[in-house]
Amino acid sequence: MPVPANRRYPPISGYELGSVIAGGGFSCVFRATNAELRASAACKVVLITPQTTPQQRKELEKEIKVHSILKNENVLEFLAASVVEENGKTKWIPAYYMLMELAAGGDLFDKIAPEVGIDHDMAQHYFNELVSGLSFVHSQGICHRDLKPENLLLSGAGVLKIADFGLCAVWRHKGQERKLAERCGSLPYVAPELSLPDAYRAEPVDVWGAGVVLFTLLFGSTPWDEPTTHSPEFAAFLSGKILSQDPWNRISGDVRDLLLGLLTVDPSRRLTLQQVRAHPWCNRASQVPQLGPTALAQRLTRGLQMNGDMDLAEPSMQAEDVDMDEDDGGFSMGGAKSQFTQSLMLFSQTQSGMKYTPNLTRFYASISPAQLLTLIAQYLMVLGHHVSEDVHEDKRTSGVSIMLKGKDVRGLVIAGWVEAEEFSRDGLRGSRCVFRRDKGNPLSWRTLWKSVVNCPTVEPHVLKRR
Ligand SMILES: Nc1ncnc2c1ncn2[C@@H]1O[C@H](COP(=O)(O)OP(=O)(O)O)[C@@H](O)[C@H]1O
Ligand SMILES: [Mg+2]
Repeated sequence: MPVPANRRYPPISGYELGSVIAGGGFSCVFRATNAELRASAACKVVLITPQTTPQQRKELEKEIKVHSILKNENVLEFLAASVVEENGKTKWIPAYYMLMELAAGGDLFDKIAPEVGIDHDMAQHYFNELVSGLSFVHSQGICHRDLKPENLLLSGAGVLKIADFGLCAVWRHKGQERKLAERCGSLPYVAPELSLPDAYRAEPVDVWGAGVVLFTLLFGSTPWDEPTTHSPEFAAFLSGKILSQDPWNRISGDVRDLLLGLLTVDPSRRLTLQQVRAHPWCNRASQVPQLGPTALAQRLTRGLQMNGDMDLAEPSMQAEDVDMDEDDGGFSMGGAKSQFTQSLMLFSQTQSGMKYTPNLTRFYASISPAQLLTLIAQYLMVLGHHVSEDVHEDKRTSGVSIMLKGKDVRGLVIAGWVEAEEFSRDGLRGSRCVFRRDKGNPLSWRTLWKSVVNCPTVEPHVLKRR
């Protein structure tokens, strides 16, 4: 996001913008803190430039208007909005600013192992939270239309929060249902009726999206590239052949019945949210709601512990070694500190102090940041990704970063930054490297991170837990 020189980000409702959490392309999300209230939040920023169209403004204003009225335990809370216009003399950066509750646990799917997924009890727990939030959204006459892994976040207590109302629509106005016409959303999550020319009913579109999310929770990948016969998997789904193939043949009974009810091609026969809530699979007895924050974090990341990803993210430090008993309740960490986020190991000691990173796509290496990023850039280019040529230097943290853009296996854009900064501990010197996502599915981002860690030129330098 190119920022005008000599301009600053304004405080929003007394919150000062801090480090970047995610994004950097169209929108950028910052951590924000209010020193007086000793409170923290997140702020989504969309720059206003000469290229900003009236249509984009209309959509941003709709996002603010709708999101700010949706108050529910499973919907990310909207706190305040502010718009700074370019008038030639403002000292602030012209943009739409949206202040929201900080989802300190980061992206839900960042914690899930690709191609593995999470166990059925955990999937049931998070699916029920999604359905609960979604039922509330629909009860307000709104539909989300962009349910996908990148828009499902976790609070500091590990509670699912539906985020990003950028594509939402009002489907009921003054008690009257209205059908929708815009074609929007990304292909793997979009309902099949959107490929027909007719107007479509709103609620079933989100039910389909929830079905794709449930499949992704269970198996760690989306079921198809797009819901048309261009996708071999979707064609096999339509013919019923897919049910005897992996991973569908691994499920039976209630969970299979529910998935097929959510992913019913005819929207008039698809389950309604009310039917979903009454479904036996959603009502199975489970211990998960009683788990404490530490047990919940461990259960969620079980796949990453088994495949070794957690050992790479925090190689030389056990969770209990992290000494953060500050008496400010973690305020200096931007309020991100909780038992849940500590158990997820979202904190690590760096040269410039204790650092909070809301995702686990990071690793440590025994070579310098510049050397490491050169090797990573070479490998990413071999994979066919576009990598920015100039290595940007960050003077404050002795860090360097590169920008990358490419496609995942589903053909969707993945983009973000690879950042490396100096690191030294226990006589070891080297780099701490973080992959910060801008666009794309967190599972695809994690897969890319893992392939970099394992590539023949980088792998010999990677520090692992012994
Ligand atoms: N309140 C928040 N707390 C923590 N992370 C957030 C928050 N809001 C957004 N993010 C992160 O930023 C990403 C982009 O935010 P989102 O609102 O989905 O913007 P976009 O419209 O660009 O998709 C999310 O996928 C998530 O990783
Ligand atoms: Mg989003």
